[in-house]
Amino acid sequence: MTTAAAMEPVLTARGLSQNFGERSVLSGADLELRHGEALAVVGVSGSGKSTLLYALAGLRQPEGGTVAWGGHDDVWSLREPEITLARRSTCGFVFQFPAFLDDLTVAANVAVPLVVSGTRPRGARGRARELLDRFGLGPLADNYPATLSGGELQRASIARALVMEPGIVFCDEPTGALDEKNSELVVGELRRIAEEFGVGVLIVTHDPSVWTACDRVLRLDEGRLVEEGSAP
Ligand SMILES: Nc1ncnc2c1ncn2[C@@H]1O[C@H](COP(=O)(O)OP(=O)(O)OP(=O)(O)O)[C@@H](O)[C@H]1O
Ligand SMILES: [Mg+2]
Repeated sequence: MTTAAAMEPVLTARGLSQNFGERSVLSGADLELRHGEALAVVGVSGSGKSTLLYALAGLRQPEGGTVAWGGHDDVWSLREPEITLARRSTCGFVFQFPAFLDDLTVAANVAVPLVVSGTRPRGARGRARELLDRFGLGPLADNYPATLSGGELQRASIARALVMEPGIVFCDEPTGALDEKNSELVVGELRRIAEEFGVGVLIVTHDPSVWTACDRVLRLDEGRLVEEGSAP
C-alpha cells in the first residue's frame, strides 16, 4: 500500500442524522476511520452507538447524511442487492453475542461467508483453519460451537469477520458478554488485526478497558461525535 493510500480514510461519514419520534439520536455525526486504526466510539446507554454503527455499516439507513467506503461515495445511494454485495466484500462484523450455526463445526462456520460468495467448501475451510490457527483456536476447529467458551466463540467470530479480507471490521459491544480476562484477550485481538491486517476497526462500546486499547476515542454526545484525544 502506498503512503497516500494508507492516509486515505477507509470510511468517511458526514452529517448522519436519525430521529425516533421526538428523540434526536444522531444529529450531524461526522466520522473518519483510517486503515490500520482501532477507533472506539463511546457513550452512555441509549446515546445511539448501535444506531450509528448500523448506519455506518450499511445495515440500517439513517434519515440523513452520507457514508463512504469500499469505493462508494455514499453506500446509502446503492440499492439492494448492491449494498449487500458491497457490505459482504468490505465489512466484517463482531457482535456482543456471536451467532453460529450449531450443526456446523467452528471451521465450517468461519468458512460460511466464503462459501456464500462462491468459494468451494474445501478451500474455504482451509482458509478458515489458517485464520483459527492465528487466533490460537486451531485445536478447536473441528469442534461444534456449543462446546466453546464465550471468549473462544468471540475470538472465532473475529476470525470469521476477517475471512473475506474486509477493509473494515465493525464491532458492537464485543466484550459485553465476557469476563475481564476474556475481554482483554478479545480487545488484544481486535487491536492486533488493525495492525497486522491493516483493517480499520470500529468498536462501539461502554467498556473502558476497550477505550484504553484503541488508537482514538470518539464520544457520542447529543447526536454528535467529539474526539476524546489519544488514549494513553
Ligand atoms: N428502531 C427504533 N425505533 C425507535 N427507537 C429506537 C430504535 N432504535 C433505537 N431506538 C432508540 O434510540 C436510542 C439509541 O439506541 P441505540 O440502541 O443506538 O443506543 P446504544 O447507545 O447502542 O445503547 P446501548 O449502550 O444500551 O447498547 C434509544 O433511546 C433507543 O430506544
Ligand atoms: Mg447498543
